[in-house]
Amino acid sequence: MSDHTLDHGGAKWRENAGRQENVNEITRRQFLTYTLMGTGGFMVSTLLVPSVRYAVDPLLKKGEEEPYVPVADVSEIGSEPKRFEFTLKVDDAWVKNQQTTYSAWVYKQGSDFVALSPVCKHLGCTVSWNTSPQHPEMFYCPCHGGLYTKDGINVPGTPPRAPLDMYDYKVENGKLYLGPLIQRT
Ligand code: FES
Repeated sequence: MSDHTLDHGGAKWRENAGRQENVNEITRRQFLTYTLMGTGGFMVSTLLVPSVRYAVDPLLKKGEEEPYVPVADVSEIGSEPKRFEFTLKVDDAWVKNQQTTYSAWVYKQGSDFVALSPVCKHLGCTVSWNTSPQHPEMFYCPCHGGLYTKDGINVPGTPPRAPLDMYDYKVENGKLYLGPLIQRT
C-alpha cells in the first residue's frame, strides 16, 4: 500500500492504493463550503434583522430618552377607534436617525384612553377597525381573517394567538402622548 505526496507544478497529488486525490481540491471544496456558509449566514441575518427589529421595536422602549411623543389633541379622540400616525427617529443596523412612521388605533374609554398597535399578532399585517362587513365593530386583519375585539383582545378561532399590543400614554396640555409599547401575550 503506497501513500506519498507528489508536487506537480504547485498542485499536490496524493497517491493512495491507486487512487489519486488532489489536495488542492479539498482546499477548494473547503473554500466553497466557507463561501456558501458565509453567503447563507448573510442572507439569514438579512431576513432576521427585520424580525429582531419587530421584536424590539417600536423603539419606544422603557429607559430610552423622550419615550413619549405627541400624537393627537385630546379633543380629536372619541369613543370610536381612530388611527393616528406619528414619527420617530429610529436607528437600525444601517441607518441612524431615520424618520420612521408608526400608527396607533386610539379611542377614549371613560376618562381613560386606549392606544393599540395596529400590528397583527399573527404575522404582522396591519389591522383596521370596522372594515369587515361580516364582523362589524371589530379590528380585522385582511391577511388571514384575524379578528380582535375593540379592546384588542384576539378572537378565539381566528389566527392571532395574542391581543394587540398597547401603548402607554400620558396627557399634557390637551395633547395625547404615546410612550412605551406594552407587549401583551
Ligand atoms: S397576519 Fe393577521 S391574521 Fe395573519
